[in-house]
Amino acid sequence: MPLSHPEMLQDDCAGVARAADVLRNGGLLGLPTETVYGLAADARNGQAVARIFEAKGRPKFNPLIVHVPSLDHVEELVELGAGAQSLAEAFWPGAMTLVLPSKGAVADLVSGGLPTLAVRIPAHPLAQRVLQAFGGPIAAPSANPSGQVSPTQAAHVAAGLGAKVDAIIDGGPCGVGLESTILAPSNSGVRLLREGGIAREEIERLVGPLADDLTPGRVEAPGQMERHYATNVPLVLGGEPQDGDIRIGFGPVAADLTLSESGDLVEAAARLFSVMHEADALARKTGAKRIHVADIPEVGLGRAINDRLRRASHPQA
Ligand code: TXA
Ligand code: MG
Repeated sequence: MPLSHPEMLQDDCAGVARAADVLRNGGLLGLPTETVYGLAADARNGQAVARIFEAKGRPKFNPLIVHVPSLDHVEELVELGAGAQSLAEAFWPGAMTLVLPSKGAVADLVSGGLPTLAVRIPAHPLAQRVLQAFGGPIAAPSANPSGQVSPTQAAHVAAGLGAKVDAIIDGGPCGVGLESTILAPSNSGVRLLREGGIAREEIERLVGPLADDLTPGRVEAPGQMERHYATNVPLVLGGEPQDGDIRIGFGPVAADLTLSESGDLVEAAARLFSVMHEADALARKTGAKRIHVADIPEVGLGRAINDRLRRASHPQA
């Protein structure tokens, strides 16, 4: 069966060159970043961007994050105010996305017609090489079907999207493992739109208290949809596990899979989506009806981990 699988590319010169070609031809590329794998397309090509929504099966044209290799590229896309400038200096390249006034340099569909654009400079060396080779802005949501667990390995992208993605370039497992923290800086302060790979405390140390804007249901960010990141088998948070549960542990507890045996939140974040994929597969194999997750402390990256777990466990409509 030709065409039923995406083309798998390696982390080498030929792979990077081919990845850039796929983007130039209006194709979809599975692209590793330090947070999660992205489903990448040329942000200036409206048709390529439309294919992202089609491939993910997104119910709506939610706005996408645009990835660029450096700050001069950011300035071609958005207005960087003073507040944004200091955030950029502190946290880029890295797991932070800034929502800023758009200069209209990308396809309208990228920002769903909003006057603002979400931008990020990823730190992953392979993402940087592909961005350099391609030479333009890349729109990329997480490379999972809408509502499912985000991919932190090339194999997750292939399993979730199959031939809907033209090629996947394999950069190994993602180091951070959680999507970027999304901030909207303005003259009146910085709003937090999504908890993510950079802990709130770290950002507040630089800019002072963040205004929360995480209201569920208001869907400014699809990461804010109430049921998101879902496993196929229901996920149960905290309390006592029941007999027959697949148990996901944290710290030195008995478990089938562990987020971090030593109770390290950074390790837990990096492993979260992989462990959710594995728990789902294990439940399918053993016929388990529930996946039980141990309590995770609500500090640092624990906040973003709990945010993802709560959404994944929200009862299905
Ligand atoms: O780490 C990440 O952020 C990953 C990697 C691939 O970079 N990307 C990611 O994209 O998580 P996605 O599409 O799953 O989430 C993008 C988030 C959405 O929640 C979206 O609503 C928000 O960014 N967003 C994009 N543009 C926005 C805008 N103009 N205003 C408010 N939120 C925006
Ligand atoms: Mg996503």
